[in-house]
This record gives sequence, C-alpha cells and structure tokens, in this order.
Amino acid sequence: MPETLSQVPVIPPLDPHIVPDVTAIPVPGAVERKELIDKIKVLLEERDAVIVSHYYTDSDLQLLAEETGGYVSDSLDMARFGHENPHSTLVVAGVRFMGETAKILNPEKRVLMPSLDATCSLDLSCPAIEFSEFCDQHPDWTVVVYANTSAAVKARADWVVTSSIAVKVIEYLHNKGEKIIWAPDKHLGDYVQRVTGANMLLWQGTCIVHDAFRAKALSDVKKMYPEAAVLVHPESPGEVIKLADVVGSTSQLIQAAHDLDNPTLIVATDNGIFYKMKQAAPGKTFLEAPTVGEGATCVSCAHCPWMAINTLQSLADVLENCDNEIHIDEKIRIKALGSTQRMLDFASTLK
Ligand code: 13P
Ligand code: SF4
Repeated sequence: MPETLSQVPVIPPLDPHIVPDVTAIPVPGAVERKELIDKIKVLLEERDAVIVSHYYTDSDLQLLAEETGGYVSDSLDMARFGHENPHSTLVVAGVRFMGETAKILNPEKRVLMPSLDATCSLDLSCPAIEFSEFCDQHPDWTVVVYANTSAAVKARADWVVTSSIAVKVIEYLHNKGEKIIWAPDKHLGDYVQRVTGANMLLWQGTCIVHDAFRAKALSDVKKMYPEAAVLVHPESPGEVIKLADVVGSTSQLIQAAHDLDNPTLIVATDNGIFYKMKQAAPGKTFLEAPTVGEGATCVSCAHCPWMAINTLQSLADVLENCDNEIHIDEKIRIKALGSTQRMLDFASTLK
C-alpha cells in the first residue's frame, strides 16, 4: 500500500462536458475518404512531413502513417521515432502529451497535431502547479511521472516513464532504496507498486477508457471462452489486472497476441488496437473486454474520445494550414527533456 495516501491531494471529478462527443464526428463517405487520403499524401510531401500515430487512432490514420513512411506504435516508440526521423515536420496523430513529447525531444522540428484539443484524462488530473506544490512537500522523494502528463509536469519530475518500462524503472529506483512519488495514474501506480514492492505515493488520476473495464463482467466472459487469453493494459483497475494472462503496454499486448497459442483473445484496452492486433495475429478471434457490468459507468466504452478527434479531415486541415503547432516554453522544455531523456537512455540499456 502507498505509505500515506491521505497526503495526496483529492482530484475533483472530470467535468463530463470536457469529453468530446464522438457520435458528432462526421464519417466521410468512400469518395470523400479517397480524396482526403490523396490530398494528405500530396501535402505530406509538400511539407516534408511524416505521420507518427498511436495505435488508438482511427485505422485510416494508422494505414496512412504506414503507407507514407511514418510510424504506428506505443507512446515510448512514438517518442523514439520522432527523435530519429529526418523529416522537418512531425504530424503527431494521438493526444496532446504525445505531441509535446515529440517537441521536447525535437525542438528544431515543427510538430503539428490534427487537434490541439486532444487531451487525456490523466493529463487533466494532474495540474502542474498543484503537483509541484505536492512534490515540494516531499523533498526527499524521487518524482516519477507517466508520459501522459503535460510538459510542465514532466519538467517537475526526475523521471518520465511509459507503461512499457514503468515496472523496470521503479524496480531500478526501489533497488537503490528510493521512495517514489508516482503520478498521475493510480491503477498503473498500484500495479507497479504490487509488482516491485516499492514505497510509492500515488497520485489519484485515472484513464476514463481503462477505468471503465469491469472485473465481474470480464470473469463472466472468461467462463464463456475457456480457450481465451486475457490481455490487459495496466491503466485498468487492479481487479481487472488480476484476471489477466498478460499485462502490458499497447505494443506488448500486440506482441502477446502474436506469440500466444490461444485462438481467442479478450482485450482490455482501447479498441483502436484491433487494427494492428489483427495484422499481428491473423486468424485469431478478438473480443473487447466488457465495460459494462455491476456498478459500471461507461463514459468512453473502450475508445478514447480524444484519440477519436484525430480524423482524416483534421489531418488534411492541419497539413494544409499548419496551424495546430506545438510550442513549449524553452525553460520548461529543457527541464522536461532531462526527465524524458533519462527514460530513453534507460530504455536503451534494456535492449
Ligand atoms: P501506451 O504507452 O501503452 O501506448 O499507452 C498510452 C496510452 O495513452 C494508453 O492509454
Ligand atoms: Fe489518456 Fe486514456 Fe485516452 Fe490513453 S486512452 S490518451 S490514457 S484518456
């Protein structure tokens, strides 16, 4: 258990009005879709731009990224790719923290996003000023923040981690005897704390997508499909994680879908992942883990509303107008670079 949970500020509930209404997002017809795709391909060349996309975005965006020399991956590899790619403009199809991470690592590049409103409930749960004050009250604790945070929060941290290396980083710090402030995802923090036994103070943020998965309903589905393996992203509640055969980042779950012998996979993460999972494991059956069940409230229903506002239209618009550019105050960027680069350096020692 965290040492003194009562010391962590109480986070006000998320204002539901801030969550985009995905049902209002227009879906292009076949002709319009083709016109948009053709236009984006031309504009990418004209702007010397490349698309870096997360697995949770629309499959059209993932396909386009792949077809045009871009990249589709988890948040750690998105950061690495942007860093290593020669194009002068990165178009980050994902959520705001992913665009900011790209800018932190690539100040000389123009970083554009289809929508600057694409935020994340974890990022929203952790305002920089409040978080910094909290850290100031615990000066002898090492500050580790999840990548799903603003540049200003990263600037206050000693380490940034993504879900793919969170356990390894905390294990490393714990073995050195360090006490850890963890923010913002309480479920991921709780999971990492249970695996490593580290002394951690957990900020109480949640992902609205993963927080909606329900253990009771999942165990009912498991009984119906005894041949299935359960794949869970660690932003899910602890009771859901306990039912998992594999817990991991998006890339790790796709790898597991490929590697496991099970013909059926029940997946507790954003359903945008199925585009890549089906490529990695053709012929297998994929089931969404349930987000309904006893006491469930489903705001997002296994699809991130902020990822969903990345569309072909908004991608074409940003390439045409070059208006949604990420800017970060240089002093903040330099500090955030320290904690972010530490993660990348650590990750390279694991390879
Ligand atoms: P990954 O690092 O596993 O891609 O996760 C990012 C994210 O936002 C999950 O909700
Ligand atoms: Fe944030 Fe959750 Fe959306 Fe990921 S899925 S970007 S953690 S709200």
